[in-house]
Amino acid sequence: MSAIPVKVSKRAGELRKQLEYHNHRYYVLDRPDVPDAEYDRLFRELEAIETQYPVLRTADSPTQRISGTVLEGFAPVNHVVPMLSIRTETDTEASGAESFDARVRRELELEASDPPIEYACELKFDGLAINLRYERGILVQAATRGDGATGEDVTHNIRTIKQIPLRLNDNEAAALEVRGEVYIRRDDFNQLNERQRALIASGAKNEKTFVNPRNAAAGAVRQLDSSIAAKRSLSFFAYGLGETRGWNLPDTHSAVLDAFATMGLPVSIDRDVVKGAAGLSAFHDKIGAKRDSLPFDIDGVVYKVNSLALQKRLGFVTREPRWAVAHKYPAHEEATIVRDVEFQVGRTGALTPVARLEPVFVGGVTVSNATLHNMDELRRKDVRIGDTVVVRRAGDVIPEVVQVIAERRPKNAHIIHLPKQCPVCGSEVEQSEDEAVARCSGGLFCAAQRKEALRHFASRRAMDIEGLGSKLIDQLVDVGMLRTPADIYSLKLNQLAGLERMGEKSAANVFDAIEKSKTTTLRRFLYAIGIRDVGETTAGTLAEHFGSLNRLIDAGEAETQEVPDVGPVIAAHIHHFFRQSHNIEVIDALRSAGVRWSEQEPKKSTEGPLIGKTFVITGTLPSMNRDDAKDRIAALGGKVSDSVSKKTTYVIAGAEPGSKLKKAQALGVAVIDEAGLLALLSQ
Ligand code: IVH
Repeated sequence: MSAIPVKVSKRAGELRKQLEYHNHRYYVLDRPDVPDAEYDRLFRELEAIETQYPVLRTADSPTQRISGTVLEGFAPVNHVVPMLSIRTETDTEASGAESFDARVRRELELEASDPPIEYACELKFDGLAINLRYERGILVQAATRGDGATGEDVTHNIRTIKQIPLRLNDNEAAALEVRGEVYIRRDDFNQLNERQRALIASGAKNEKTFVNPRNAAAGAVRQLDSSIAAKRSLSFFAYGLGETRGWNLPDTHSAVLDAFATMGLPVSIDRDVVKGAAGLSAFHDKIGAKRDSLPFDIDGVVYKVNSLALQKRLGFVTREPRWAVAHKYPAHEEATIVRDVEFQVGRTGALTPVARLEPVFVGGVTVSNATLHNMDELRRKDVRIGDTVVVRRAGDVIPEVVQVIAERRPKNAHIIHLPKQCPVCGSEVEQSEDEAVARCSGGLFCAAQRKEALRHFASRRAMDIEGLGSKLIDQLVDVGMLRTPADIYSLKLNQLAGLERMGEKSAANVFDAIEKSKTTTLRRFLYAIGIRDVGETTAGTLAEHFGSLNRLIDAGEAETQEVPDVGPVIAAHIHHFFRQSHNIEVIDALRSAGVRWSEQEPKKSTEGPLIGKTFVITGTLPSMNRDDAKDRIAALGGKVSDSVSKKTTYVIAGAEPGSKLKKAQALGVAVIDEAGLLALLSQ
């Protein structure tokens, strides 16, 4: 045997230490500080060394065991059938499928002429493995994987997951253990983080945003207090079996999953039964193409030999079954270095810190910019220039910096400050106390805001000027031909045709599109002019309510608040917008350039018997739900608001009223019950 170079054995020791450290953070603390892809690389490096020098493969090497220990406070659960891990095919190409198929055939001692093997293909969910134990069809226990032999009893948390049946359909087996993954959908995860950001913004201590759905799910499951899991919208997919007693085992894995579905367990529909390596790689491609549009994260697909008899013959190696493999996709998270942080100015003047990164391949594309959301978030994550950070890109969302890898901070890393002046126009930057966002105060004086405002104005859902896109707007602003939206309508055909890189035909098309956009609707126009917080829906309700632009301009803030969904903040933005003379000038110029829409009489309901009356609902009403009550009040011209003030006409109190009732009493606002409301509605 060849002697082991000192360098190699030292490296193996280092890798073992690092992997143990990362294992502890990942499996025990649910707080990894490096991306999975990086962990995988370290793991593979150690595996390769151990393959070359088998004496280095000690029994306690991280390659030989499943990590995770039982957290204090949880009852330990012994797994009758160990919960194993699964081998990862390092290769992301089709050959990953081929090498697995070849290995299986070799181990089964098949000849090339033997028929192809049948495989069950599934998604590799990115969450936390859980064992559900049913006895006589009743859920009696749920446990984490732990170290594979002993897990944690988390029944109290798993019972909060509504998808998991507490009783199986038609199953009386003495024992049936269902294994699967607890995960969080991407939309639930984003909502969770938005809620966390709002809590932090309102001063809540001890709150944090979650790095990724897997950590949020794992963290929720491993809590002693089940109200946390209940609030975190957890989901579940079943993918395998543990111990069974008194259950008639089907012949194949796919039939086991079919049986699970019949019992009422959630099983993913994205699974196929295929033949041979070609079938595996077709499945890999098919799922790869739809990975971004799935509602949850996956990090790859899993191939399993479908026949349970063959699975038994193939058996296990130390930590993994020989009959299954995970075939991964490019990682959603990678580590890279922050070269610089710049501030982008949006349409409303909001400054967004953007990290300029050492380009890195993540989520299937090369990423060189990632958002840091806002200053608060940047400070909380403590991102500095020179730091190594974890970048995440999942689905089609904008890449973001999720965390700093603290131990890789260089000495000269420097802190990022909010600029005092707008990086685009030099106007002062303002940050109000109640908002995390910093804004340039330059308004339309700021070229960035002007460009963004123009892009918004011309966009498809606003004035819909086809061909007047980002690049052309940049060019027109830069040469000084465009300043306000009204300037669009004084552009001449020869001016457009004279622009660099502009053909005669395209110039004519843009010119026609501008002309065509003159005939529009009040709804589109109100959306296009870019009043803060007035999106398409609000623009629509405003247009419907007032019917004419002048009526809206002349309305006071109180009157604007009568429009459904318009609260005091939006009403103030609208009022402020129309009180600025430069905005009125632009509107006048647009109208005289020929921009027009048909106007209507104001909506009938403004003449209803409840006109001018504001209602606040608190508690549960005996027969009506809140939306019904709101609709019926609005139909008669009344308005429903969320908060009680002196201007509130009536507070409608149902069962278990909240603090709003107290406030109403303190302010001397009239309080009525549902019967009182019904009386008002039937006048
Ligand atoms: S089967 C004995 N199927 O991946 C085979 N695992 O390293 C056991 N996972 O912790 C695993 N999706 O939580 C299997 N469709 C799937 C899976 C899956 C995700 C997870 C599982 C386990 C890890 C394997």
